[in-house]
Amino acid sequence: MTSEILDKLKWRYACKKFDASKKLSEEKLTVLKQAFNLTATSYGLQPLKMLVISNQTLKEELVPLTMNQRQVADCSQVLVLCTETQISSSYIKKYFDSVESLRKTPREVLQPFESFLTDEFSQKDSSQINTWMAKQAYLALGNLLTVCALEDIDACPIEGFEPQKYDRFLNLTDKGLQSVLVLAVGYRAADDVFSSMAKVRRGTDKVILEM
Ligand SMILES: Cc1cc2nc3c(=O)[nH]c(=O)nc-3n(C[C@H](O)[C@H](O)[C@H](O)COP(=O)(O)O)c2cc1C
Repeated sequence: MTSEILDKLKWRYACKKFDASKKLSEEKLTVLKQAFNLTATSYGLQPLKMLVISNQTLKEELVPLTMNQRQVADCSQVLVLCTETQISSSYIKKYFDSVESLRKTPREVLQPFESFLTDEFSQKDSSQINTWMAKQAYLALGNLLTVCALEDIDACPIEGFEPQKYDRFLNLTDKGLQSVLVLAVGYRAADDVFSSMAKVRRGTDKVILEM
């Protein structure tokens, strides 16, 4: 099993050219949606949402907002990883409401942690909260990249896009969201030369320190 996972991780690469005729099945999309939702986040607060764009016209219109990277048009779906525009005390309260109802934990047991978090977030400015939320989006990206590899789905993680233009074009602000990362998913084109290139990595002898 271990070497199977490594084989899958060697198979995956940042896809530069998708086969526009190949689409993900509903089953595969469901796996990605569930994996996104199952991503671990700091405090469990999950300050994330994922926009799934299948509409071809929309995908084409994203190309100029994505440094002209064609992957967003030729992939099967564009996944836009978004964070909340703010974390209010009522957002934190809703999380603890869920813990209380799903785990049947008495509120008085949860209360000290709830007060701590409410206090903690009230002391952070919006830039600190945005940085914290963006880190959670990157965790979701890493999780999705691995799940894509395990499911034989090709993907290209994309930081090369204009978040403010995405937010305007996709009306994200009205939804209380801001875009942080893009992940194009689908299937590689047979002639994507990048698929057969050697992996460039520093090597475990360089990046692993043992004590
Ligand atoms: C956060 C992040 C952002 C990236 N943004 C882009 C991008 O905008 N366009 C692109 O073609 N590749 C992008 N990449 C792909 C990386 O260049 C690629 O993962 C890296 O060179 C390692 O190669 P491999 O993933 O093919 O093994 C991004 C990767 C990550 C993790």
